[in-house]
Amino acid sequence: MAYTASNTRYDQMKYNRCGNSGLLLSAVSLGLWHNFGGVNEFPIMKEILLKAFDLGITHFDLANNYGPPPGSAESNLQKVLQSELAPHRDELIISTKAGYDMWDGPYGEWGSRKYLMASLDQSLKRMGLNYVDIFYSHRPDPNTPLEETMTALHHAVQQGKALYVGISNYNAEQTSRAVDILENLGTPCLIHQPRYNMLDRWVEDGLLDVLEKRGVGCIPFSPLAQGLLTNRYLDGIPKDSRIGGASIFLGEEALTSETMVKVKALNQHAEQRGQTLAQMALAWILSRKQITSVLIGASSVSQLEANVASLSKLEFTMDELAHIDSILV
Ligand SMILES: NC(=O)c1ccc[n+]([C@@H]2O[C@H](COP(=O)([O-])OP(=O)(O)OC[C@H]3O[C@@H](n4cnc5c(N)ncnc54)[C@H](OP(=O)(O)O)[C@@H]3O)[C@@H](O)[C@H]2O)c1
Repeated sequence: MAYTASNTRYDQMKYNRCGNSGLLLSAVSLGLWHNFGGVNEFPIMKEILLKAFDLGITHFDLANNYGPPPGSAESNLQKVLQSELAPHRDELIISTKAGYDMWDGPYGEWGSRKYLMASLDQSLKRMGLNYVDIFYSHRPDPNTPLEETMTALHHAVQQGKALYVGISNYNAEQTSRAVDILENLGTPCLIHQPRYNMLDRWVEDGLLDVLEKRGVGCIPFSPLAQGLLTNRYLDGIPKDSRIGGASIFLGEEALTSETMVKVKALNQHAEQRGQTLAQMALAWILSRKQITSVLIGASSVSQLEANVASLSKLEFTMDELAHIDSILV
């Protein structure tokens, strides 16, 4: 049946301003790292993407290497962008990144101008787009001058291939320097994409302060710790879960007894709040003032729907926050 976008799609979603910019992002964004590759079933991913749009998610996050195989998530997105979502390009924020290993030889990873510019051209071709909304440096490169990496991002904007730029996995000090360089070039740093969730709170140690002070948005990735902060692993390892499947990024060793004690205690608290653990984990991040959006993954429409429903209860009392902190120490 032909797809028609829901005409209530903007009714429930919250939209937050990204730092000091003019751009609003949906409070929940969808990432295509897992579940959208050439190894996955296209009808399922299409259903998830269209449901996301119908729920008011405007921001879809990619990288050159998402798959597997690398590049296939961008190619799969193209199929939906050129069919069902074709009339809606101006309602969408599409981001991509370059930084990790993508092709053979010395120009296929890290932060050189050579790599970033070539990778962006490849990404645009795979997605069938003239421009992306956000182009990121995916990780800091210790061997390339930061000026070179940031100038490449700036030139991507000047060439009309990206509207905004961002950085990912940069620490607080690297972020300050990157923001300075971009500011001097006249292309503000729109957004930072760090890993942040209840089990990994490194950003609270300086990065969030830098982002707030400099007016840069923040979109935490893996807010559910790849599924650990959900009910997925409470009773073992389901076959169709990330750990149960072929992901090279999350294995059984992540389910330590120490982590599972925390997960079970958090789950109990979530039940008392009237939320699932996943919903509470997302609300906990979104309740922080520096956060623009949470960047989730989903392997089914029902996960996506449940995660978006976290927006109906974002508030925590001081007592609750203290209780959660006591679980997480
Ligand atoms: N910048 C970077 O370096 C970087 C790194 C990693 C990720 N990212 C971005 O962040 C996005 C999200 O990362 P992520 O996939 O690790 O995020 P996540 O939201 O922490 O984990 C998503 C996984 O959790 C499970 N899940 C989600 N909702 C659930 C629910 N309601 N109930 C039960 N299980 C649920 C699913 O796993 P199952 O498969 O087990 O169902 C799903 O695939 C990526 O797609 C990518 O765009 C960026």
